[in-house]
Amino acid sequence: MIDPLPAIPYPVAMAILDIVKIPDEVLRKVARPVDQIDKKLRSFLDDMLDTMYDAPGIGLAAPQVGVLLRVVTIDCAGEDEDPTPLCFVNPKIVSVSEELSVYSEGCLSIPEFYADVERPVSCGVKYQDRNGVDRELLCEGLLATCIQHEIDHLDGVLFIDYISRLKRERIMKKFIKLAKLSDAS
Ligand code: NI
Repeated sequence: MIDPLPAIPYPVAMAILDIVKIPDEVLRKVARPVDQIDKKLRSFLDDMLDTMYDAPGIGLAAPQVGVLLRVVTIDCAGEDEDPTPLCFVNPKIVSVSEELSVYSEGCLSIPEFYADVERPVSCGVKYQDRNGVDRELLCEGLLATCIQHEIDHLDGVLFIDYISRLKRERIMKKFIKLAKLSDAS
């Protein structure tokens, strides 16, 4: 089935958006490219940043707030560093290093669960910024891990897809149970 387009492409006049958690099916869908970078999209990007900082998290992809658009926000700055908000519109990985690294990853859509994931230690990303300017960025370290994790979200892929099936099924079961409990209350 083709994803129905939402009546309003993205929420308006809201600052903190609701973060969708597994097993919500929206997290498994492929997001659409953004074709118009306008005021409305910029306001959505601001809401995504607010939502990400509020959570708090270092990365957020639009499907995590229920919007199937290819948009990602990231801030990998350390606690003692100035904030470095980054907005990626239509991000695409164009190169990856052969060298891999392992990070203990987490996800705002799978709260309080962490697992080691191996990914290329650096990657090149092409994207448009919030003003629609084409950019390319070489990402390294935590930023490389984070952008790969977030771009996965745009394709319906979660970091738990890289762990063992047994562990993945265990964590899915836990969240299915939690979702049922919150539906019942
Ligand atoms: Ni995530």
